[in-house]
Amino acid sequence: MLKEIELRKSYRNFSDKEIVDEIIKDIIEAGRLAPSCFNKQPCHFILLKKPKNEKIFPFINKGNSWAKNAYAYVVMACDPDSACVVHGMNYFLLDCGLAVENMLLNAYYHGLIAHSIAGFDEIGVKKSLNIPENYRVPVIIVIGYPEGKEIRERERKSLREILHEGEW
Ligand SMILES: Cc1cc2nc3c(=O)[nH]c(=O)nc-3n(C[C@H](O)[C@H](O)[C@H](O)COP(=O)(O)O)c2cc1C
Repeated sequence: MLKEIELRKSYRNFSDKEIVDEIIKDIIEAGRLAPSCFNKQPCHFILLKKPKNEKIFPFINKGNSWAKNAYAYVVMACDPDSACVVHGMNYFLLDCGLAVENMLLNAYYHGLIAHSIAGFDEIGVKKSLNIPENYRVPVIIVIGYPEGKEIRERERKSLREILHEGEW
C-alpha cells in the first residue's frame, strides 16, 4: 500500500482505452468499503463510461478539458443531511474524501490514473444526471489509462512545517 501512496499522482494524459467492468467495479468497491463518521455512508457513486460521460462535458471547466479523453468518471453525490454532525461540523466531505482516496489508490494499483476534480459546474452536473436537489457533488474522479509518460514533481509541505509533537 505504501508504494501506491507514494507513486500515485494526479496525471492528466489519458488515453480513451476501455477499462473492463471488473476493474471499475473493484475501484468503486474500494470506495464503498471506506469508513464514514457513525457509518452513515452519505455518498453515492455515479459511474459514467464513454460515451455517456459526454453529457457532462459542457459542465467541466475549460482548465480541466484534459479530462474529456478519460474512459470513466465517478461522480460523487453526497447527502449532507444524512451525514453525521459533531460539534457543529458536518462530516460528509471527510466521508467523501476517504472514499475518494480509497478509489484513487485502487485505480493506481490497477495501472490506471485517477484524478479528482472540483472544477466543474455542480448545478449543471446535478441537473444532467438527475441527482436529487439535497445532494452535493464535491468531486468527480476521472479515471483512465495513462497515455505516454508524464513527469511531475511531487510538491508537499515538509514534515517540519506540519508535524507538531506533543502540542502545537
Ligand atoms: C478535492 C480535490 C479537487 C481537485 N480539483 C482539481 C481540478 O479541478 N483540476 C485539477 O487539475 N486537479 C484537481 N485536483 C488535483 C490536485 O491538484 C492534486 O491532487 C494536487 O496538486 C496534488 O498532486 P498529486 O495528486 O499528484 O499528488 C483536485 C484534488 C482534490 C483532492
